[in-house]
Amino acid sequence: AWLNDFLGKFFAGAGAPSGPAVPVTVLFGSQTGNAEGLAKKLVKTLKKGNFEPEVHDLGAYDRSRLATEKNVLVITSTYGDGEPPDNAADFHGWFLGESAPRLEGLSFSVLALGDTNYPDFCKCGIEFDTRFEQLGAKRLFPRVDSDVDYDAPFKQWSDGVLGVLSPAGGASAPVNGAAAAEVEAGYSKKNPFPSAILSNFNLNGGGDKETHHIELSLDGSGLEYEVGDALGVFPRNPEPVVDEILANLPFKGGTVALASGEEVPLREALISHYDIGTLNKSIVQKWQARSGSPFLRSLVAADDKKAWDDFCWGRDLIDLVVDHPADFTDAEEFVSVLKKLQPRLYSIASSPKAHPGEVHLCVGIVRYNTFGRKRGGICSTFLSDRSKGLQPGVFVHSNNAFRLPANGETPVIMVGPGTGIAPFRAFLEERKATNAKGANWLFFGNPYSATDFLYQDELKAFQQDGTLGRLDVAWSRDQKEKVYVQNLMVQQGAEIWQWFQNGAAFYVCGDATRMAKDVDAALHTIAEQHGGLSKEDAAAFVSQLKKDKRYLRDVY
Ligand code: 2AM
Repeated sequence: AWLNDFLGKFFAGAGAPSGPAVPVTVLFGSQTGNAEGLAKKLVKTLKKGNFEPEVHDLGAYDRSRLATEKNVLVITSTYGDGEPPDNAADFHGWFLGESAPRLEGLSFSVLALGDTNYPDFCKCGIEFDTRFEQLGAKRLFPRVDSDVDYDAPFKQWSDGVLGVLSPAGGASAPVNGAAAAEVEAGYSKKNPFPSAILSNFNLNGGGDKETHHIELSLDGSGLEYEVGDALGVFPRNPEPVVDEILANLPFKGGTVALASGEEVPLREALISHYDIGTLNKSIVQKWQARSGSPFLRSLVAADDKKAWDDFCWGRDLIDLVVDHPADFTDAEEFVSVLKKLQPRLYSIASSPKAHPGEVHLCVGIVRYNTFGRKRGGICSTFLSDRSKGLQPGVFVHSNNAFRLPANGETPVIMVGPGTGIAPFRAFLEERKATNAKGANWLFFGNPYSATDFLYQDELKAFQQDGTLGRLDVAWSRDQKEKVYVQNLMVQQGAEIWQWFQNGAAFYVCGDATRMAKDVDAALHTIAEQHGGLSKEDAAAFVSQLKKDKRYLRDVY
């Protein structure tokens, strides 16, 4: 109640709402729930001011309304190779195509979510933004392109947009106030739960791959999750690497002020608060500005994509520190060139009904050797090697776009090679725990049957108790010719088509750039071969599956 009180006073202070409420339509394109979460947060804020907001999933939005809208705010992420999120794909195709209407009467602004570690940063948001302008719409506020740490960019964008949208420009202060007054109850990304590690072991029986099953305690956290959700995990950087960085800096130690205001020693900041992992263009540019390295100078001056990729590939911060010393005077200046260490999201591999008070992950451990150094994925090696006795900070990242059918009788087909099996172990546990009658079919794949059959015993048990009616496994390297999940799908195409006729929902989890694309192509093939559909009709069939939320993907 105090919050409403506070907001009430704030808005009253800014002048009572005057004139008719301003209509605002917020549209989101979201794959893992971030854009959706921000869109809903924005609408909540708008509702407290003199606005009449609506929020729509781009997949469900009635596009014939677009030309009559007054103010449209789009929040969208970008996936895989610069692709729109699944729920936005249809709208995106239409909007960028020739049948999009003129939008002279419309004002808009775009918040683009992305990840600077991918080549086509924020591509989908950029395309929407450009297209609105081409169609004659008026830009309310410049597009903001956000990296994974989206809180500050979201605030910058929403404050900016609302400042422009508010009559007399009076609402920007209340919006700030609303954001500042927002209190999140319980554990969250901002206030992660210190979780005890209950179990941590390698699921592979030798071979090159290393995939850990990790069980964490949620006891006493009050955190709840649903199958399909992800767990955010805050990693710690390896101490030997941090110490090597410290030993090579031109100044000694010192402290750093965190965003919270807390002062911590530089060593601790580099272990827990800053990203010392893989390089990208932006950090190398900042580094170069303080370094006398002729090599870096010419790299920045040439600004050639291939040269950037070649340099950043396989290198981390330590390589800059050691090979291209820079002239930092103190700890604060040094960390100013670094990005904040981000939590990693893992698809949850357990059902809370099967494991109350616990959450399980299936984590691919990334290790490699480049330029004479052993290296690894920050969070995967943290969980496997450096988390013993620690309580990593975790939070639940809910993903409404990846849910089991509400009706337990709906048949389910799941395609999850490698660590993509994670959410499907959770799905199977959930279907069993809820006594769901619908049939379950899993396609799994990995290199070798002898070493890489993740959760083999559990899957066998699910087969024996009838939970898992069908299991098809693609061992890609057990024979000369590669066999992948999509090859097995096409072989079983007639039956898959039949399952779709029976209302089945289709799920894919795992690699976005190759596997998920090939699986998508296999779906089209199946619709053509077994549904007798033309290429165009097969595409329409697949796109209808998406619209009906019968084709859901958790891909990365
Ligand atoms: P590979 O590494 O032998 O080529 C999990 O990583 C499994 O997915 C592995 O068996 C891997 O095979 C396989 N995989 C690699 N590329 C794939 C693709 N484009 N489609 C489906 N599976 C793929």
